[in-house]
Amino acid sequence: MDGNGRWAQRRNLPRTAGHKEGLNAAKQVVKMAADIGVKCVTLYAFSTENWKRTVEEVGFLMNLVLTHLRGEFAFYKKNGIRIRHIGDIAGLPANVAAEIRRATADTAGFTGLTVTLAVNYGSRNELARAFSKMLNDGVTDCSEDSIQAHLDEPALPDVDLLIRTGGEQRLSNFLLWQAAYAELVFSRTLWPDYGADEFRRTLAEFGARSRRFGGA
Ligand code: FPP
Repeated sequence: MDGNGRWAQRRNLPRTAGHKEGLNAAKQVVKMAADIGVKCVTLYAFSTENWKRTVEEVGFLMNLVLTHLRGEFAFYKKNGIRIRHIGDIAGLPANVAAEIRRATADTAGFTGLTVTLAVNYGSRNELARAFSKMLNDGVTDCSEDSIQAHLDEPALPDVDLLIRTGGEQRLSNFLLWQAAYAELVFSRTLWPDYGADEFRRTLAEFGARSRRFGGA
Protein backbone atom coordinates (compact mmCIF):
# COMPACT_ATOMS: atom_id res chain seq x y z
CA MET A 1 0.00 0.00 0.00
CA ASP A 2 2.67 2.47 -1.13
CA GLY A 3 2.24 6.18 -1.71
CA ASN A 4 0.35 7.37 1.38
CA GLY A 5 3.06 9.84 2.38
CA ARG A 6 3.30 11.39 -1.11
CA TRP A 7 -0.49 11.56 -1.40
CA ALA A 8 -0.55 13.67 1.78
CA GLN A 9 2.50 15.81 0.92
CA ARG A 10 0.94 16.77 -2.42
CA ARG A 11 -1.99 18.18 -0.48
CA ASN A 12 0.22 19.94 2.08
CA LEU A 13 -1.05 17.54 4.72
CA PRO A 14 0.98 15.58 7.28
CA ARG A 15 2.04 12.09 6.11
CA THR A 16 -0.28 10.61 8.71
CA ALA A 17 -3.30 12.00 6.81
CA GLY A 18 -2.18 9.81 3.90
CA HIS A 19 -2.19 6.73 6.11
CA LYS A 20 -5.70 7.56 7.33
CA GLU A 21 -6.90 7.86 3.74
CA GLY A 22 -4.91 4.71 2.91
CA LEU A 23 -6.95 2.79 5.45
CA ASN A 24 -10.14 3.92 3.68
CA ALA A 25 -8.73 2.67 0.38
CA ALA A 26 -7.86 -0.66 2.03
CA LYS A 27 -11.42 -0.98 3.29
CA GLN A 28 -12.83 -0.35 -0.20
CA VAL A 29 -10.59 -2.95 -1.78
CA VAL A 30 -11.29 -5.48 0.97
CA LYS A 31 -15.04 -4.95 0.59
CA MET A 32 -14.84 -5.48 -3.15
CA ALA A 33 -12.65 -8.55 -2.73
CA ALA A 34 -15.21 -10.01 -0.31
CA ASP A 35 -18.08 -9.20 -2.67
CA ILE A 36 -16.53 -10.89 -5.71
CA GLY A 37 -15.39 -14.00 -3.86
CA VAL A 38 -11.63 -13.49 -3.52
CA LYS A 39 -10.47 -15.97 -0.86
CA CYS A 40 -7.44 -14.20 0.63
CA VAL A 41 -6.06 -10.66 0.75
CA THR A 42 -2.86 -9.78 2.58
CA LEU A 43 -2.20 -6.13 3.39
CA TYR A 44 1.34 -4.91 4.10
CA ALA A 45 0.51 -2.40 6.85
CA PHE A 46 3.85 -2.10 8.71
CA SER A 47 7.22 -3.63 7.88
CA THR A 48 10.08 -4.63 10.17
CA GLU A 49 11.93 -1.72 8.52
CA ASN A 50 9.18 0.86 9.16
CA TRP A 51 10.43 1.38 12.75
CA LYS A 52 13.00 3.72 11.12
CA ARG A 53 10.26 6.32 10.64
CA THR A 54 9.60 9.14 13.13
CA VAL A 55 8.11 8.31 16.52
CA GLU A 56 5.00 10.27 15.49
CA GLU A 57 4.44 8.31 12.28
CA VAL A 58 5.10 4.93 13.93
CA GLY A 59 2.76 5.83 16.81
CA PHE A 60 0.07 6.95 14.38
CA LEU A 61 0.26 3.73 12.37
CA MET A 62 0.15 1.56 15.50
CA ASN A 63 -2.84 3.51 16.75
CA LEU A 64 -4.54 3.26 13.35
CA VAL A 65 -4.27 -0.54 13.41
CA LEU A 66 -5.46 -0.63 17.02
CA THR A 67 -8.49 1.62 16.60
CA HIS A 68 -9.44 0.06 13.28
CA LEU A 69 -9.49 -3.43 14.78
CA ARG A 70 -11.39 -2.18 17.83
CA GLY A 71 -14.01 -0.38 15.77
CA GLU A 72 -14.63 -2.55 12.74
CA PHE A 73 -15.92 -5.83 14.11
CA ALA A 74 -19.37 -5.07 12.63
CA PHE A 75 -17.81 -4.55 9.16
CA TYR A 76 -15.98 -7.88 9.40
CA LYS A 77 -19.03 -9.71 10.69
CA LYS A 78 -21.34 -8.30 8.01
CA ASN A 79 -18.92 -9.28 5.24
CA GLY A 80 -17.90 -12.64 6.75
CA ILE A 81 -14.25 -11.56 6.92
CA ARG A 82 -11.74 -13.50 9.00
CA ILE A 83 -8.68 -11.59 10.26
CA ARG A 84 -5.26 -13.19 10.48
CA HIS A 85 -1.85 -11.71 11.23
CA ILE A 86 1.66 -12.29 9.95
CA GLY A 87 4.78 -10.73 11.38
CA ASP A 88 6.65 -10.67 14.66
CA ILE A 89 3.84 -10.09 17.15
CA ALA A 90 6.30 -10.18 20.07
CA GLY A 91 7.87 -6.97 18.75
CA LEU A 92 4.62 -5.00 18.75
CA PRO A 93 3.35 -2.76 21.58
CA ALA A 94 1.38 -4.95 24.03
CA ASN A 95 -1.96 -3.23 23.33
CA VAL A 96 -1.62 -3.64 19.55
CA ALA A 97 -0.60 -7.30 19.93
CA ALA A 98 -3.57 -7.91 22.25
CA GLU A 99 -6.00 -6.27 19.81
CA ILE A 100 -4.66 -8.36 16.91
CA ARG A 101 -5.08 -11.53 19.01
CA ARG A 102 -8.61 -10.49 19.98
CA ALA A 103 -9.62 -9.67 16.36
CA THR A 104 -8.23 -12.97 15.04
CA ALA A 105 -10.08 -14.90 17.77
CA ASP A 106 -13.35 -12.97 17.35
CA THR A 107 -13.43 -13.44 13.55
CA ALA A 108 -12.06 -17.01 13.48
CA GLY A 109 -15.47 -18.48 12.71
CA PHE A 110 -16.21 -16.29 9.68
CA THR A 111 -16.00 -18.18 6.41
CA GLY A 112 -15.73 -15.55 3.65
CA LEU A 113 -12.60 -13.61 2.75
CA THR A 114 -9.48 -14.04 4.88
CA VAL A 115 -7.73 -10.69 5.40
CA THR A 116 -4.20 -11.11 6.68
CA LEU A 117 -2.61 -8.05 8.20
CA ALA A 118 1.15 -7.93 7.86
CA VAL A 119 2.17 -5.81 10.86
CA ASN A 120 5.81 -5.76 11.98
CA TYR A 121 6.30 -8.07 9.03
CA GLY A 122 9.45 -8.79 7.05
CA SER A 123 9.86 -11.89 4.94
CA ARG A 124 13.45 -12.51 6.04
CA ASN A 125 12.37 -12.11 9.67
CA GLU A 126 9.51 -14.58 9.13
CA LEU A 127 11.87 -17.11 7.55
CA ALA A 128 14.50 -16.69 10.29
CA ARG A 129 11.78 -17.26 12.93
CA ALA A 130 10.50 -20.27 10.97
CA PHE A 131 14.00 -21.82 10.93
CA SER A 132 14.38 -21.15 14.68
CA LYS A 133 11.02 -22.84 15.34
CA MET A 134 12.21 -25.82 13.29
CA LEU A 135 15.39 -26.08 15.38
CA ASN A 136 13.36 -25.82 18.60
CA ASP A 137 10.93 -28.48 17.35
CA GLY A 138 13.86 -30.78 16.55
CA VAL A 139 12.92 -30.90 12.85
CA THR A 140 15.62 -32.73 10.95
CA ASP A 141 14.26 -32.58 7.39
CA CYS A 142 14.68 -29.12 5.94
CA SER A 143 12.06 -29.76 3.25
CA GLU A 144 9.89 -27.15 1.57
CA ASP A 145 6.87 -28.64 3.36
CA SER A 146 8.43 -28.29 6.80
CA ILE A 147 9.54 -24.71 6.09
CA GLN A 148 6.00 -23.90 4.93
CA ALA A 149 4.60 -25.53 8.09
CA HIS A 150 6.66 -23.18 10.29
CA LEU A 151 5.68 -19.92 8.61
CA ASP A 152 3.45 -17.50 10.52
CA GLU A 153 0.30 -18.63 8.69
CA PRO A 154 1.12 -22.03 7.16
CA ALA A 155 -2.39 -22.49 5.79
CA LEU A 156 -2.29 -19.36 3.63
CA PRO A 157 -1.97 -20.34 -0.03
CA ASP A 158 0.82 -19.09 -2.27
CA VAL A 159 0.33 -15.57 -3.59
CA ASP A 160 -1.39 -15.46 -6.99
CA LEU A 161 -1.33 -11.72 -7.55
CA LEU A 162 0.95 -9.20 -5.86
CA ILE A 163 0.00 -5.53 -6.34
CA ARG A 164 2.35 -2.70 -5.42
CA THR A 165 1.12 0.85 -5.80
CA GLY A 166 3.03 4.13 -5.67
CA GLY A 167 5.29 3.54 -8.67
CA GLU A 168 8.09 1.59 -6.94
CA GLN A 169 9.05 -1.68 -8.59
CA ARG A 170 10.38 -3.84 -5.79
CA LEU A 171 9.09 -6.36 -3.23
CA SER A 172 10.51 -4.69 -0.10
CA ASN A 173 10.80 -7.89 1.92
CA PHE A 174 7.17 -8.96 1.38
CA LEU A 175 6.18 -12.64 1.18
CA LEU A 176 9.38 -13.66 -0.62
CA TRP A 177 8.73 -17.38 -0.04
CA GLN A 178 4.99 -17.26 -0.74
CA ALA A 179 5.29 -15.09 -3.87
CA ALA A 180 7.64 -17.43 -5.72
CA TYR A 181 5.17 -17.70 -8.62
CA ALA A 182 3.07 -14.61 -8.01
CA GLU A 183 2.04 -12.43 -10.90
CA LEU A 184 3.40 -8.94 -10.17
CA VAL A 185 1.51 -5.75 -10.97
CA PHE A 186 3.11 -2.38 -10.33
CA SER A 187 0.79 0.62 -10.38
CA ARG A 188 1.83 4.29 -10.42
CA THR A 189 -1.32 5.19 -8.49
CA LEU A 190 -0.69 6.36 -4.93
CA TRP A 191 -2.40 3.91 -2.56
CA PRO A 192 -5.11 6.30 -1.22
CA ASP A 193 -6.28 6.79 -4.84
CA TYR A 194 -6.31 3.05 -5.56
CA GLY A 195 -9.97 2.14 -5.44
CA ALA A 196 -12.39 -0.53 -6.55
CA ASP A 197 -12.16 0.48 -10.26
CA GLU A 198 -8.42 0.04 -10.53
CA PHE A 199 -8.61 -3.17 -8.49
CA ARG A 200 -11.15 -4.50 -11.01
CA ARG A 201 -8.84 -3.58 -13.93
CA THR A 202 -5.88 -5.21 -12.17
CA LEU A 203 -7.87 -8.41 -11.65
CA ALA A 204 -8.75 -8.41 -15.37
CA GLU A 205 -5.05 -8.02 -16.25
CA PHE A 206 -4.22 -10.91 -13.90
CA GLY A 207 -6.92 -13.03 -15.56
CA ALA A 208 -5.36 -12.45 -18.97
CA ARG A 209 -1.88 -13.62 -17.93
CA SER A 210 -0.61 -17.05 -18.87
CA ARG A 211 0.70 -18.88 -15.79
CA ARG A 212 2.90 -21.89 -16.47
CA PHE A 213 4.67 -22.35 -13.09
CA GLY A 214 7.81 -23.39 -14.94
CA GLY A 215 5.97 -25.80 -17.22
CA ALA A 216 6.01 -25.56 -21.02
C1 FPP B 1 3.49 2.95 2.66
O1 FPP B 1 3.35 4.24 2.10
C2 FPP B 1 2.43 2.71 3.63
C3 FPP B 1 2.63 2.35 4.93
C4 FPP B 1 3.98 2.17 5.52
C5 FPP B 1 1.52 2.17 5.86
C6 FPP B 1 0.28 1.53 5.29
C7 FPP B 1 -0.73 1.35 6.37
C8 FPP B 1 -2.05 1.63 6.26
C9 FPP B 1 -2.70 2.14 5.03
C10 FPP B 1 -2.93 1.34 7.43
C11 FPP B 1 -3.43 -0.04 7.30
C12 FPP B 1 -4.13 -0.52 8.49
C13 FPP B 1 -4.97 -1.59 8.46
C14 FPP B 1 -5.62 -2.01 9.72
C15 FPP B 1 -5.28 -2.31 7.20
P1 FPP B 1 4.49 5.33 2.40
O2 FPP B 1 4.21 5.98 3.70
O3 FPP B 1 5.85 4.68 2.31
O4 FPP B 1 4.27 6.34 1.21
P2 FPP B 1 5.37 7.19 0.45
O5 FPP B 1 6.21 6.22 -0.33
O6 FPP B 1 4.56 8.09 -0.43
O7 FPP B 1 6.15 7.94 1.49
